[in-house]
Amino acid sequence: MEFGTEIGAVQRRMAQTQEGVGRRKATFEALNVAAGQHILDVGCGGGHLLRDLALSVGTEGRIMGLDPSEQQIKAAQEHCQDLDNVTFSQDSATELSFEDGAFDSVASIQVLEYIADIDSALAEIRRVIRPGGRLAAVSVLWDHWRFHGPDPELNDRMHETFKAHCFHQMLPLEMPEKLTRHGFVGAHCTPMGFLNNSLHHNSFPYLAANVFTHFAEKQGIAKEEVQSWREQLDEAERDGRFGFVSVPVLTTAIAA
Ligand SMILES: C[S@@+](CC[C@H](N)C(=O)[O-])C[C@H]1O[C@@H](n2cnc3c(N)ncnc32)[C@H](O)[C@@H]1O
Repeated sequence: MEFGTEIGAVQRRMAQTQEGVGRRKATFEALNVAAGQHILDVGCGGGHLLRDLALSVGTEGRIMGLDPSEQQIKAAQEHCQDLDNVTFSQDSATELSFEDGAFDSVASIQVLEYIADIDSALAEIRRVIRPGGRLAAVSVLWDHWRFHGPDPELNDRMHETFKAHCFHQMLPLEMPEKLTRHGFVGAHCTPMGFLNNSLHHNSFPYLAANVFTHFAEKQGIAKEEVQSWREQLDEAERDGRFGFVSVPVLTTAIAA
């Protein structure tokens, strides 16, 4: 998926929904943040986590926001413009320009599943964390990311096309093995599943439906069918039978 388009703007709004805040809170807590630390956020998007981290590590600490998308970095810079302990990199996670052990910890929220060569990314992330430092990474179990309410046949087709939006559909299930292989210990997964029944215009499902619609049309589903799917969502919500389910998973591990 390309985040340098209008999808980037929708994604930044999704990061500010209640569900987005919940993910950041869980990630923040898992990092065991302390004043003076150096922390890297891989795939920082609009910089919401960067801001919380920068205020926490204080003037002695340093936060690095990394994202290959110019548009995301620009948004993150704006969000953190009053903070002088945040710097930015447009590297890909697969090739980091930082020294070995440069960071006390690394965070990454809903990013790793979009990286085809995830093993290179995990090797690089391990290399830049000091021994004993932490990784806290959230990825989604995409096979369980689901809208409920529209006609099942059309709904299935819409979900089928969305599989192409990222490289790793069920990454959390693969993370413990990968992390052990790349030099981490104590890998642990915490599911953060949720059900949201609302399609108000700042709800996670409403914004997710916008992304889904954009992607389905790009994948060749006819505009009229996508429109009909949207109308069926609204109808289901009015009838009290709409639901959106997702299972993001927080994986934590320690650099050996
Ligand atoms: C779903 S967004 C999540 C952004 C942010 N972490 C958040 O929670 O709001 C995924 C982000 O991963 C970034 N990304 C994609 N490929 C990447 C790569 N190879 N290395 C680092 N970040 C990448 C995208 O540009 C995008 O900003």
